[in-house]
Amino acid sequence: MAKPVYVLNGPNLNLLGKRQPEVYGTATLADVEQITRARAKDLGLEIEFRQSNHEGVLVDWIQEAREKASALIINAAGYTHTSVALLDSLQAAELLVIEVHLSNIFRRDAFRQHSYISLGANGVICGLGAKGYELAIEAIADLVRKSGT
Ligand code: DQA
Repeated sequence: MAKPVYVLNGPNLNLLGKRQPEVYGTATLADVEQITRARAKDLGLEIEFRQSNHEGVLVDWIQEAREKASALIINAAGYTHTSVALLDSLQAAELLVIEVHLSNIFRRDAFRQHSYISLGANGVICGLGAKGYELAIEAIADLVRKSGT
């Protein structure tokens, strides 16, 4: 059985749909999960989709992914801009990592324009809403196929 792609979501993303829809859109996290799962299924990939408001829980899940995942998609939300711990765990994971943001973080507050976790990511997708998660799954399918693993 192939390992799943872990899709990890950080703080406040459980409020999607209600939270600043003008910035983050009207799709709920359940909608984002469904879109991602459907695209993954088309491409023959399993996903493990999770959300936590707690930094340490995200660290634990990234450590788990090191053993159990084929690749990782992460929207670290607010921790993107603060967390050396998440960067360290991504670097330790030795996985293909795609960082996703619903909003275009480069078009927002100055403090959002720096991501600690980008140093641990193979690619970054931002500003495309839920579509970014689908594109991340496509990129992973493509890269995994090319690497022959
Ligand atoms: C976000 C962007 C972050 O700056 C913010 O803290 C979030 C969501 C996004 O998906 O656009 O919570 O990661």
